[in-house]
Amino acid sequence: MKVLITGAAGFLGQRLARELLARSVLKSASGTLEPITRLVLLDVVAAPDFDDPRVQIETGDISVRSVLDRVIDADTAAIFHLAAIVSGQAEADFDLGMRINLDASRLVLDVCRARGHRPRVVFTSSVAVYGGTLSDVVLDDTALNPQSSYGAQKAIAELLLSDYTRRGFVDGRVLRLPTISVRPGAPNAAASSFASGIIREPLNGVRAICPVAPETRIWLLSPHKAIDCLIAGLELDTAALGERRTLNLPGLSVSVAQMVEALRDVAGDAAASLIDWQPDPRIERIVGSWPGHWDTLRAERLGLSGDRSFADVIRAYRDEITP
Ligand SMILES: NC(=O)c1ccc[n+]([C@@H]2O[C@H](COP(=O)([O-])OP(=O)(O)OC[C@H]3O[C@@H](n4cnc5c(N)ncnc54)[C@H](O)[C@@H]3O)[C@@H](O)[C@H]2O)c1
Repeated sequence: MKVLITGAAGFLGQRLARELLARSVLKSASGTLEPITRLVLLDVVAAPDFDDPRVQIETGDISVRSVLDRVIDADTAAIFHLAAIVSGQAEADFDLGMRINLDASRLVLDVCRARGHRPRVVFTSSVAVYGGTLSDVVLDDTALNPQSSYGAQKAIAELLLSDYTRRGFVDGRVLRLPTISVRPGAPNAAASSFASGIIREPLNGVRAICPVAPETRIWLLSPHKAIDCLIAGLELDTAALGERRTLNLPGLSVSVAQMVEALRDVAGDAAASLIDWQPDPRIERIVGSWPGHWDTLRAERLGLSGDRSFADVIRAYRDEITP
């Protein structure tokens, strides 16, 4: 089976690629496990450290048709479309966000349509599609009301994926990812970057700024579970999904205060005291528009699962970074 990951040099893209290579098989549309014979990794920069004969590294911009024509052919049975401009950057640069998050997502679908082979496509959407005054608990089909350009771009792309699926051009699956935490490495331009920083930096003995109030609720998923869900989402039986192609993944709903308590439980008072509370109205406005309570029963019934507790997520991260 030939598989494509867009945004493959990114945080989730690299992890997904390594997990697919380790598993070496994927469930195909016919329900059988097929060996992954070719894994195409597309990004604007080369995905690093992949020394595997199954891997084909491609560099290029997904908003350029000739790049997509090069990497999607009639043998590309599965596409994980992850390439994106993250929330903070898409808000700061309207044109870039529209070009990559929206126009290029449609281009991916159009190239699939031109090939005529109806590949399975997983699209990574976000909590940012919701906003405004919300019901106490958010369901898969709660009305979309994004309060950021990133959220609007993801919401429109979700609808496109559903319609291209309805028309039979692709077999699409939209997975709305919670904020992924704990994310290793440097902070990024996502408005939710602090949700990793307030754990990662103190575990390294470094001070961290929390730009939102302690009572702010966040919906979280560990990187490990996120990758499991992306693969499970791709493998979901088409008939079981029916015409409802969008799933909220089973995240943990926690307040920032509870996150810090979990940090205290796992790493002690010294680590928890390394957080400086410095409200940033720009981040509070974006993150505060995202809902905190979720009903993800449908995803769970379809076999997708999340983390047991945020303390477990911190422990797993600590074990991963400890040599
Ligand atoms: N990490 C999270 O907390 C989170 C939460 C919700 C949704 N998501 C979504 O999951 C996906 C992956 O997220 P991530 O955390 O790995 O992000 P990331 O920023 O680490 O990776 C995105 C990748 O897309 C690439 N990219 C950007 N523009 C491109 C272009 N024009 N052509 C080709 N590649 C391009 C970037 O170079 C980057 O490597 C994104 O669609 C994101 O919106 C992530």
